Amino acid sequence: MTKSKFWDAIIVGGGVIGSSIAYYMSARGMKVVLIDRDRFGQQASIAAAGMLAAQAEINEAGPFFDLARTSRALFPPLARDLQALTGMDIGFTRKGLLRVGITSADVEALQQTIAFQHSVGEQAEWLSTEQVIQREPEISRELRGAMLVEGDGQVDAPVLSIAYAKAAVALGADIKEFTEVRSLLIEHGRIAGVITSEEVLRSDRVIIASGIWSGALLEQVRLNCPIYPVKGECFSVLTDKPLISSTIFSHGCYLVPKKGGRIIVGATSKLHSYDRKVTLGGISTLLEAAKKLVPSIVNAEWEKAWSGLRPQTLDGLPYLGEHETYKGLYVAAGHYRNGILLSPITGKCVADWAEGKSKKHLSLEPYRIHRHQHISQEKVGFPT
Ligand code: FAD
Ligand code: GLY
Repeated sequence: MTKSKFWDAIIVGGGVIGSSIAYYMSARGMKVVLIDRDRFGQQASIAAAGMLAAQAEINEAGPFFDLARTSRALFPPLARDLQALTGMDIGFTRKGLLRVGITSADVEALQQTIAFQHSVGEQAEWLSTEQVIQREPEISRELRGAMLVEGDGQVDAPVLSIAYAKAAVALGADIKEFTEVRSLLIEHGRIAGVITSEEVLRSDRVIIASGIWSGALLEQVRLNCPIYPVKGECFSVLTDKPLISSTIFSHGCYLVPKKGGRIIVGATSKLHSYDRKVTLGGISTLLEAAKKLVPSIVNAEWEKAWSGLRPQTLDGLPYLGEHETYKGLYVAAGHYRNGILLSPITGKCVADWAEGKSKKHLSLEPYRIHRHQHISQEKVGFPT
């Protein structure tokens, strides 16, 4: 059956990226349909710790750092707007992030990062061990100080993802869960819609925001956007009174304090794993690392463990843009470790493109979706 209804855009993938796009397009008065083969937000987006770590995870000047900082700045108004539209609190807070130094090499690297942050006009401050302990009395005495970043806040990632979709619906978006997009509908060399497990949906604008599964849909138009999974496992614990107030970040481990004494401990990194099983090995590695940072975490009550598949690309940058030949076909995928942070700027950029606007102050050239077109995957291979 061919659906005659005509949308301004069909968005494939109801994770944080697709849902953000649906929200920003709907907020500009466009009629969109958001589709997921599962419930919305149940893949990478539900697994995220919710850090908005523009400074803590990116410490190199360039377009990606600017994209991350621009996106981070969108969260205060976004939190208010989503609350007003949906009644949902996305848990946006800014209580500081401590990137701790354990070895002298860490201290040196963190001092260099602070100098870099100052050179680009960002706040970052070195705290001695005593100052860190004063701020976070439960933290280990073994550390050698920490970089404090005040600007990197956090949100409740699973709530953010759903709030975007609900806000889009409140603004007129249509939604289809448990509906798989099987292929793109191409007519006369143009994008004309998608073919789902249920029906044919028509629109002259289709946005692929399907996380690690985006590449498969794009093969039909011979677009090479290699995206591979990097599995991350996490667990959470509950405490009677908050153990920490800031996010604490170290090698391969972070502790993110949430409302009500809950702490998320993340995250492992396993390349090329499509299975989401939580392993004892992964959790015990995290627990050992967490104990080294905050020893009293051993007294916390176990809550749960989970995992998700981060969508990584060959150069670590997302694919953002329009197909050069099949006009109206867009890709927004491959946000790897920062999809929550980058969700508002991604949604805004796609809404701008649909309105024929461009972001003059942001260079989107590094994210061109054709940049890996001529790379043979067999030759280069995915990183191992
Ligand atoms: P997904 O959330 O995977 O969504 C893609 C959707 O597309 C899925 O719902 C899927 O069902 C759907 N789909 C796929 N194919 C089809 C099809 N053919 N038809 C219909 N639907 C389809 N980021 C941060 O910024 N801060 C953090 O603190 C953070 N922590 C993280 C911790 C962990 C453990 C992990 C795993 C990730 C973390 N991330 C974090 C990264 C972030 O979660 C991801 O970058 C982000 O969720 C990617 O969103 P997405 O919408 O692209 O993908
Ligand atoms: N950004 C945190 C993670 O991906 O684990």
